[in-house]
Amino acid sequence: MSDTNIKMDRAALAEIEASSARRHAEFCQAQLALDLTRGKPAADQLDLAGHLDGALQGDYRSEDGTDTRNYGGLRGIIEARRLGAALLGTPVEQVLAGGNSSLTLMYLFVETAHLFGLGEQGPWRDDPAGPPKVLCPVPGYDRHFTICEQLGIEMVNVPMLETGPDMEAVEAAVRDDPSVRAIWCVPKYSNPTGCTYSDETVARFATLPRLAAPGFRILWDNAYAVHDLGPEPQALADLNALAVEAGTEDAVVMFASTSKITFAGAGLAFLAASKPVLAAFEKRLGALMIGPDKVNQLRHARLLPDLDALRHHMAQHADILRPKFAAVQDALEQGLGGTGFASWTRPHGGYFVSVDTLPGLAREVIRLAGEAGVKLTPAGAPFPYGRDPEDRNIRLAPSFPPLDDVRRAMEVFVNCVRLASARQGLGEQGS
Ligand SMILES: Cc1ncc(COP(=O)(O)O)c(C=O)c1O
Repeated sequence: MSDTNIKMDRAALAEIEASSARRHAEFCQAQLALDLTRGKPAADQLDLAGHLDGALQGDYRSEDGTDTRNYGGLRGIIEARRLGAALLGTPVEQVLAGGNSSLTLMYLFVETAHLFGLGEQGPWRDDPAGPPKVLCPVPGYDRHFTICEQLGIEMVNVPMLETGPDMEAVEAAVRDDPSVRAIWCVPKYSNPTGCTYSDETVARFATLPRLAAPGFRILWDNAYAVHDLGPEPQALADLNALAVEAGTEDAVVMFASTSKITFAGAGLAFLAASKPVLAAFEKRLGALMIGPDKVNQLRHARLLPDLDALRHHMAQHADILRPKFAAVQDALEQGLGGTGFASWTRPHGGYFVSVDTLPGLAREVIRLAGEAGVKLTPAGAPFPYGRDPEDRNIRLAPSFPPLDDVRRAMEVFVNCVRLASARQGLGEQGS
């Protein structure tokens, strides 16, 4: 990210204000209806997994002879668990393959830890250290925060840096406060900054549980594990191996899904944890269901039988996504580069670009964009309780609209940032 810091005189700001106000009025008249809110795959991305339909051709048996149409097999079929292991980089024995949503697994895991306890570890809500707190690197994924909010778990912001969460702040928080029970992480192509945690950050995560109270959990949501935009993926260090080395593996719980690989609404989700933690989670899951949708698991295993197939499939996604992300970068650079009005991330993968306006302007930019027919993620969404303390972060999600719509929406967006910034600058400089 570059710095936001205006270095313009009053005349230059007035000129920007006048020209961007004129353009804004034109956009408003054009009655646009564009949307850069949710990180959903576009229809042509979903088409890439079209072969899922009919993949089984009447053969419902998994490789160990299981009839996938029937009840049972709470951990999922072995082929699906292998796919999860490839995504998460963990041994297959540690992986559970579930239904279509990793978010559901995350919710259930946190709820279980909070209300029921996991194995020997009692529930967070009964902990004598006090009501639980969860660390939330910000900006982060709004739905992680919703899980905590719904369960009444207090959230504590920690800053996201270009290397991942600020580990000084994270380590101090767990060391100083035994009621800190967990931390949310999106370690690769993070939502929304697109950052991949550095090797040093991952190494510090491996030893973090030693500083924390027993039963501390690292909620490692690797939703974008293979979602590279270019041919040179950013590598994420192997937390699982490092945690085994550090003797902290019970603290690490990993999640992933094929939501942005195959069908977002009909994919597979995975959870990986150490042997005792997985067994405790499975016990709780067994109260909810007799087994997952193994037919869908088998279809996925046939479509994506190995890592090569997965890589080839994701390269096709990247071909579709790359021009959209390039359009976002081009618009930001052309409209805002050198102005000091905003800084933004340049991710190598994932689904988002994170923009920081001047302090106090995110809400206003989003309002202006809405006026001109461009829907943006509500201000504050990437923060716990929907509160961006500086009111400056805006998450852009360019995957879903067609490329021309992304270009048009970005023209409007950039103009809104220019307009709001010039107005603020003029107001601050006084007349
Ligand atoms: C970081 C992150 N985790 C999880 C999800 C949702 O995953 P699933 O579709 O598997 O529930 C998303 C979707 O945007 C996400 O960005």
